[in-house]
Formats: sequence, structure tokens, C-alpha cells
Amino acid sequence: MSVDLFVPGRVCLFGEHSDWAGGHRRTNSRLAPGAVIIAGTNQGMYARCGRVAGELVVRSALPDGSRTGECRIPMDLARLHEAAAEGGFFSYAAGVAAYMLDFYGVGGIEIDNYRTTLPVRKGLSSSAAFCVLVARAFNQVYQLGLTTRAEMEAAYQGEVATPSRCGRMDQGCAYGQVPVGMTFDADRLGVEPLRPGGDFYLLVADLCGKKDTVRILSDLNAAYPFAKGARDEAVQRTLGAENRRVVESARRMIESGDAEGLGSLMTEAQRMFDESLMPVCEELKSPRLHAVLGDARLAEWVWGGKGVGSQGDGCVQFICKDAAAREALAGYLGEAYGMPCFNLDIRRPVSVRKAVIPVAGLGTRMFPYTKAAPKTFLPVVTPEGIAKPVIQVIVEEALSAGVEQVALVIQPEDEARFRAYFQADVRADTLGKLPQALREEAERLNRISKVLTFIPQHEAKGFGHAVMLAEKFVGGEPFLLMLGDHLFRSGEARSVARQIVERFQDFGDAQSVIGIYEERLERVKHYGAVRGEWVSEDTLQIEQIKEKPTEDEARMNLKMEHHGKPAYFCVNGVYVLRPDVFAILRDAAAGTGSQEIELTAALDRLRQREGVKGLIVNGRHFDTGLPAIYAETVFAFARGVAE
Ligand code: UTP
Repeated sequence: MSVDLFVPGRVCLFGEHSDWAGGHRRTNSRLAPGAVIIAGTNQGMYARCGRVAGELVVRSALPDGSRTGECRIPMDLARLHEAAAEGGFFSYAAGVAAYMLDFYGVGGIEIDNYRTTLPVRKGLSSSAAFCVLVARAFNQVYQLGLTTRAEMEAAYQGEVATPSRCGRMDQGCAYGQVPVGMTFDADRLGVEPLRPGGDFYLLVADLCGKKDTVRILSDLNAAYPFAKGARDEAVQRTLGAENRRVVESARRMIESGDAEGLGSLMTEAQRMFDESLMPVCEELKSPRLHAVLGDARLAEWVWGGKGVGSQGDGCVQFICKDAAAREALAGYLGEAYGMPCFNLDIRRPVSVRKAVIPVAGLGTRMFPYTKAAPKTFLPVVTPEGIAKPVIQVIVEEALSAGVEQVALVIQPEDEARFRAYFQADVRADTLGKLPQALREEAERLNRISKVLTFIPQHEAKGFGHAVMLAEKFVGGEPFLLMLGDHLFRSGEARSVARQIVERFQDFGDAQSVIGIYEERLERVKHYGAVRGEWVSEDTLQIEQIKEKPTEDEARMNLKMEHHGKPAYFCVNGVYVLRPDVFAILRDAAAGTGSQEIELTAALDRLRQREGVKGLIVNGRHFDTGLPAIYAETVFAFARGVAE
């Protein structure tokens, strides 16, 4: 098995030095906890990894494309610790490998770090990125199922086993290219990825100066743990309460997409830093940093800026007005100051604003009930004890994922029934007799009715055909697709549909993501089954999709390994699809005449063209499309069990 990995570096946007300052709460609980916001860089380290017997094998490339050679160390605790203590690039891999061996009993690994675009020794935590890369490689190759947080811990413990020292903030790059908020309260570390509400164009420039980090740390630390005078108090206040206020504002501005506000906040943070910290540390005078920040020309391109990392004359960062302004600024800094620059993008995740739910099928398996009403009007009882038709529960699931509009593909003769349910007012005499909780349900229906659109499917030409009819409604955006006969119960605070939407956003819109779950071999024949390579503990790069395979076919072609055991995975009926699927469906429609158009075949084409990922959702689904299974669903769904 081979796993491809990318781990970025990180830049500290706000809160530098408050990480260790918050650590002093161990001895002085009157200090404020530390708080920082970091962001993953566009640059990083790429690697291909796989299992080998009994050895740690690492090959590595430098940013200039040259190779540092290869290291081979036996997977033996004493030998790994020895290699870690020697120092140098490979010592990081040895330190992390020792931790993984000690805690998880892993075997050998081969890591080919074939490409590195991250500049080293520029305060971007290239060593932490490498440690995270090694921890993640073990996690994925040995399918340990570790969380990102556990990978960060392994990376930290690995790095401190080497002569190099790192802080707790450095491993935040494990969260990828999203901004991450971190808090530091004595030994307690809090980590929370943020969801940007807009795009931010940052530029980081190398000041090409000198900075003495050891000196900066030693001067600032002299103000801790107990202040000996007004100057110390000012340091503690700046890295404590004032920093928390700035970080809290920064978090709000990132989440609301306020680039202008974030730029001014950077300028304000630098001013606070200069006022209170410069007097205690000569190094923080940083002449090059202040010359650039004080250059009046910059106002044309930037909303604001500040130093990076421990400050000093290392790097400077700016929030630019837009992409063109950033390019102009980089050109100017290069010409006027000879400073190399690189871009850092913080992007709003692509929004998934529309959902499509086809409910125009004939429902033959539920005949003769479906002679009375479409099967999507079958009742279920929610865990709160409210009776609702299946379709309402599904629409609510779609809305819980953040979509703003929902289209139901329906048989034209059912339109009056759907409108009557969702849009007609409740009779006044009924409303008068309802208890408060059920009156609220009437209001909820009223709200839902405002986001619904009905699309007629004149002939039941298959699920794929029903999806195709929604092309105009979807309008070239990624969209959420849900079956009209499956219900969900999440095992966590986020709904199942939201989990899939967020995973789609994590990959920056590049590939469609479909919900999958582990199914027993004898039941795989009822569903769409998938096979592929794991790219993380819960995400599959799909290599095959097969609608209703026979048991033999599944055993031969669709068997996967998961957590060291054989397993089969099926599609759970929630998809976030890129709009390219419509062209494929149209092609299929042109070629099939009167035959049904299946979505599964179109998904397989989509997979070949641009890749499709599968996410094992945390939660459970319930089918309502077959009589016996529907009967089970009614009871299980009402009990609200998620496992
Ligand atoms: P199913 O495969 O469950 O088909 O459709 P069906 O027609 O509803 O039921 P059976 O197999 O005859 O018992 C999956 C989803 O796609 C919709 C269905 O309403 C269901 O929500 N669908 C299916 C359409 O909207 N149009 C179609 O032509 C076929």
C-alpha cells in the first residue's frame, strides 16, 4: 500500500510568544492563558509512504530540488533514540518513529519525501511539518485511526527527542491550509480549526536580516512568572489580556471574511508589541521590519501588516487588498528592498448552497402503499416523538448542512400533494387544538416551504435522469444530492450531510465526495458498493463503484482492508457532487434511448475524469424503501440510536 501525503508549513498570524507565556500559568495562575491564530502555508512537504520490514527508511528532497540522501535505521527503540539525539534532518524522523514504536508498536516504514517547497529556517516550522508528516505516515500506513490531535502530539514528542526545541504551536500545520485557533493554559492545549468567511490574500516577505530568537526569548521570559515592576507588568498584559482581545477579534474577522479589519488589527498588534515589548528587548527594535512597515508606499496595496514568529528581523506579513495588489507589493518589495516573498492564501470554503432530492421513483417495492401516496410520504417518528413524513426529515437534514435552496424532483401529478403538505396553511381549527410544540412544527413547515422548488420528472427514467433534470436549478455549482428514501442519525454534533459537505470543502472543491459506510457482505448486493485506497483514516480515494454487485463479485473485486480487517463499503445516499456530473448524465441520456439512466455509472465516469472521494460518516442511515426494512427503520429511528 502506498499513501500520498502533503503537510504545509505554518505562519503565526496573531499571538506570537503567548504560547510559552500561557505556560507560565503553571507557576502563576493570575497570568492570562495564551492564544494564537496560525495558518498553514501554500508551501509544504510532499511524500509517498509505504510499509517495509523492520526499518525506518527516509529519503528527502530540499526546496532547491536536490536530495539530502537517505537514512536507514532499524526499528529499535534504543537505536532510534540514539539517531534522534544526534541532530540533523533525519533525527526528526527518528524521534517520531521512536514515539510511534513505543506507543503503537508499529513496524517499519519507507517515506519518500520527493518534493519540498517550504523554505527552511524562515520561521515557518519546516521541522514541525516534517515531524507531522512522519507521524501521519505511520498513522495511515498502519491504519492506526489516530486523530489529527494525536498526530500533533506524536510530532511534538518526536521533535523534543532531538536537540532541536519547538513550541506547542508549531504542529498546528497538521490541520492543513486552514487557519487554526490555539489556546495555551499551563500544560493544556486547545486547538480549533476556523472556517474563513471570505478570501484573504497574505504576503510573507523575508526581511533578509538577522534575529536572535534565543535573546528575544530570554529577555521576554525575564518578565515571568512574577512581574518585578511596571515594565514586566506591561509585557504580561500585552502577551496576556490584550493578546486575548486581539486574537478574539481576529477570529471574528476571519470568520466573517473582514480582510480590511484583519489588516488594521495586524497593525494594531504590532503597535502594542512595540510599545510594551521593545523596551525590554533590544532585538525587537528590528530596524528592517520597522523600515518596511513604515514605508508609506505600502498603503496602496495593503490593509495592514506585522512581524512573523518571534518577530525581530525574520519575516514580515501583510494582508493585501486583493490578488493584484499582492502581486504589485511583491514586485515592489523585491525591487526596493531585495526581499523574496511568497503568497499565503486563506480561502473561504466553497459553499454548497443547493440540494437536490429526487422523489419521483415508482416505488414498486412499496406497492400497493405507493398507489396511495409516494413512498416519501411514509411516516416516521422522530426521537422527539413527532410524526413526520420521510421527505420532511430529509429536507431538514439537507438544511442542516447549510444549503439555502432545495429542489424536489417529483412526478408531476404529485405536485399538488407536495404543495398541500409544505405550503398550504394549517386549518385554523386544527391549529387551535395543537399543543405549543406542534404549533412550532407548523411554523417550521412554513419556513421550509420558502426554500423549496419542485422539478417535474414526466417519466420515471431512473435516479440519474432525475438528477439530470436539476441541472438548471443547480446552475454550475457543487450541490448536495440525497436519496428520497434514506434517513440519517449522526454520531456527533454535526449532521451526516454536514460532515460530507465539510469534507468536500476540506479538499477545496477539487473532487466530489460521497458518504459511505461499512456493510455486511451478504447485504452489499442491495446497494452501490465502492473500493479504493485510503487517503486518511476515514477518507477513501475511490477506484471502483459498482451498483448492486453479486456476493461473489463483491468478494472478488470490492473487498477492502480497514483497521486491519476485511470490509465492504457501500454508498449511504448522500453526495456532494461537482456540476461536471451533468455533462456525463446528458451524454448517457443521449446514448440510452428509453433505458433508465443510473447515477452510479455517471459517478464512475466522474471518478475517471476528476476523482471522487468517499467519506465514512460518523453516524447511521436508515432505509425506508423496502417493507421489512421500513418496519425496522420506524422503530430504530424513533429510538434515536446512532451506532
Ligand atoms: P429507487 O432506486 O429506490 O427507486 O430510487 P424507486 O422507484 O423509488 O423505488 P423501487 O425501486 O421502484 O421500489 C432512489 C431515489 O431516486 C428517486 C426515487 O424516488 C428515490 O428517492 N427516483 C428514482 C426518481 O426520482 N426518479 C426515477 O426515475 C427513479
